[in-house]
Amino acid sequence: AKTHYHDFVIQATPVKRLCKTHNTITVNGQFPGPTLEVNNGDTLVVNVVNRARYNVTIHWHGVRQMRTAWADGPEFITQCPIRPGKSYTYRFTIQGQEGTLWWHAHSSWLRATVYGALIIHPKEGESYPFPKPKRETPILLGEWWDTNPIDVVRRATRTGAAPNVSDAYTINGQPGDLYKCSKQDTTIVHVDSGETNLLRVINAGLNQQLFFTVANHKLTVVGADASYVKPFTTSVLMLGPGQTTDVLIKADQQLARYYMAARAYASAQGAPFDNTTTTAILKYKTTSCSSNCAKTNPVFPSLPAYNDTATATAFTRKFRSPRKVEVPTKIDENLFLTVGLGLNNCRRGARSRNCQGPNGTRFAASMNNVSFVLPSNFSLLQAHHQGIPGVFSTDFPAVPPVRFDYTGNVSRSLWQPTRGTKVYKLKYGARVQVVLQGTSIFTAENHPIHLHGYDFYIIAEGFGNFNPKTDTSKFNLVNPPLRNTASVPVNGWTVIRFVADNPGVWLMHCHLDVHITWGLAMAFLVENGVSELESLEPPPIDLPVC
Ligand code: C2O
Repeated sequence: AKTHYHDFVIQATPVKRLCKTHNTITVNGQFPGPTLEVNNGDTLVVNVVNRARYNVTIHWHGVRQMRTAWADGPEFITQCPIRPGKSYTYRFTIQGQEGTLWWHAHSSWLRATVYGALIIHPKEGESYPFPKPKRETPILLGEWWDTNPIDVVRRATRTGAAPNVSDAYTINGQPGDLYKCSKQDTTIVHVDSGETNLLRVINAGLNQQLFFTVANHKLTVVGADASYVKPFTTSVLMLGPGQTTDVLIKADQQLARYYMAARAYASAQGAPFDNTTTTAILKYKTTSCSSNCAKTNPVFPSLPAYNDTATATAFTRKFRSPRKVEVPTKIDENLFLTVGLGLNNCRRGARSRNCQGPNGTRFAASMNNVSFVLPSNFSLLQAHHQGIPGVFSTDFPAVPPVRFDYTGNVSRSLWQPTRGTKVYKLKYGARVQVVLQGTSIFTAENHPIHLHGYDFYIIAEGFGNFNPKTDTSKFNLVNPPLRNTASVPVNGWTVIRFVADNPGVWLMHCHLDVHITWGLAMAFLVENGVSELESLEPPPIDLPVC
């Protein structure tokens, strides 16, 4: 196994999109940021130097970080932010994961522009469980704001209003042909006729789930979130922010140019979204094509409608592990978590003690009615490791404080969140089941729920209220998919299971940044086991202090 050393310099860089140049926060002046490539078993050492005027941290989304929670990255959870002018070195080893992950800033809304792919090839000397593709292409789906995204979220937190939606979707940082001033920079993916390309699709968008498709071509899904899946073919993918999907695409069509396209899957009823489409071009790389097909327009795919929940759900339900897996069958911890948004019963525009949203505003999202608040003097991990009292409490509720018809049209009085920095404590090795139950107070929508430091099995999902008596019959305990982000269906539920074998403090949150801003998060505190190999490593000496 190798060790890969990288320097990430966080800096403002002029980036031109949609006819305007913005001073954009980037890594090493690149947008999107550098692609990191490693083999399973390798170690990454990334020295992050902050030359921007914002605090920053980098999160290695989906990396298990076994015993190295200090390198996970969410600000005030596993570390204090890296202040302007300071640096911090992330050091971690990839253990057992293969496929596509990514990295992104985990501080305010910086990840809008601070992100990149993390590609994990098989262990040295080993091969893919599918025929080796001729090429591999990372496809990073993103969102672009025609203004500073940090200002967008700051304004929203100040006023309590919903933040502006993005002004464009992007593929590898480019909005593509259908947007103003963008045509000449459209991302082009070359293929030779007959060859197979492995597309590593990542939804790095902030607030939108996205459909993705390629005109006239079938996509064979072979992996997701750095785990292999039982291959299946589809014409369209749906990815929540945070999720990755690896697909094989065979160039078996006429020599021509084909659009790959992505646009929102906006399950929310009535919530605003960007209804535009981003495109890249799949271009058959032969001379005959260069002369002919440059004259004709690329073939445009058909994309599902923005509210096509049937297509989105049919897609997510196709995922299986390639073979029988070991799902914990006996459960030590059984949590039932409501995930949802809400409006407080407080006066519009008023900022008062009764308003439990961030900065005393009316919007507040919560899990089990706790709207999560980040600490500010210590990270949770530091507070836990050093035994500093008063930073968090361990009374996060395992079940909701009130039971009601979660997906029905219920009174707001049933939804009165309290703000708090509460964690749920797990013993090392505990076998955990979490039922994630969407609620429909204020709006019903999907929530891509991401758990740090773990992969989990998604053993079932469904619509309506989870019924513990009958829905257990839907559990797949044989070959469920292993993921790090689950798309909880609109007006529905998802059940996940994992074994708490990684000590540390691990954030679980909705990966729509607007929802995490409103508090849709909680954290697990996983205690050390008995032996050193079951315990958190000591903190690095350069760990930032608050
Ligand atoms: Cu990719 Cu906490 O996030």
